[in-house]
Amino acid sequence: MTLQPTKAKYTGTVGEIAASLPGAAAIFKNFNIDFCCHGDVSLDEAAADRGIDVFMIEQALSTLKADDLPTPAKLSSGELTEYIQTRYHETHRREIAELIQLSRKVEAVHKDHPRAPAGLADVLRQMEGELEVHMKKEELILFPAMRWADTVLDAPISQMRHDHNDHALFLERLKGLTNEFTLPEDACRSWQALYSGLAKLADDLVEHIHIENNILFPRFEAR
Ligand SMILES: [Fe+2]
Ligand SMILES: [Fe+2]
Repeated sequence: MTLQPTKAKYTGTVGEIAASLPGAAAIFKNFNIDFCCHGDVSLDEAAADRGIDVFMIEQALSTLKADDLPTPAKLSSGELTEYIQTRYHETHRREIAELIQLSRKVEAVHKDHPRAPAGLADVLRQMEGELEVHMKKEELILFPAMRWADTVLDAPISQMRHDHNDHALFLERLKGLTNEFTLPEDACRSWQALYSGLAKLADDLVEHIHIENNILFPRFEAR
């Protein structure tokens, strides 16, 4: 008997499912499904891309209860842009600055270690610069426009989506330099703190981009 691929019962794209079902984003992350920059595919397609039976993902999703967690999709655009600034923009600024210091220290102290993340601080500096320019554009131009009027903002949003794809490339570079934030057995406390901080930054940035791409921006794009 030939087994037919299971058809997903969750409709909409993975980006939409992550936006409307609290906790779905964490499940997609566990299955390595990109719901953030490439969230415009169905659950069936995403599962097929990863070589996973869609039924496994649906089982995990079915354990979620819609009211367990607060959801950004329920916030007004004014509330949501404020939330993004305080929860994500300010947090990235603070944490990247700390991670640059920490990576300089780890790179210097362990420069002869074969697994030392050589060049990490420089990549973080570039990432800090690009994120800062991007977040300033959102804070000074795009978010105020969203608070003033319920209007179509296709052109600036398309530029922001493009920037988000660049941020995702920075995350790939960070993972490449650190073997996906995997520590060597003899890693010191600073090295441990550096990689756990980087993993947190990566998780936060993916969540941040997801909320903008899949919840906030569609409210201001032409259908
Ligand atoms: Fe943002
Ligand atoms: Fe953004």
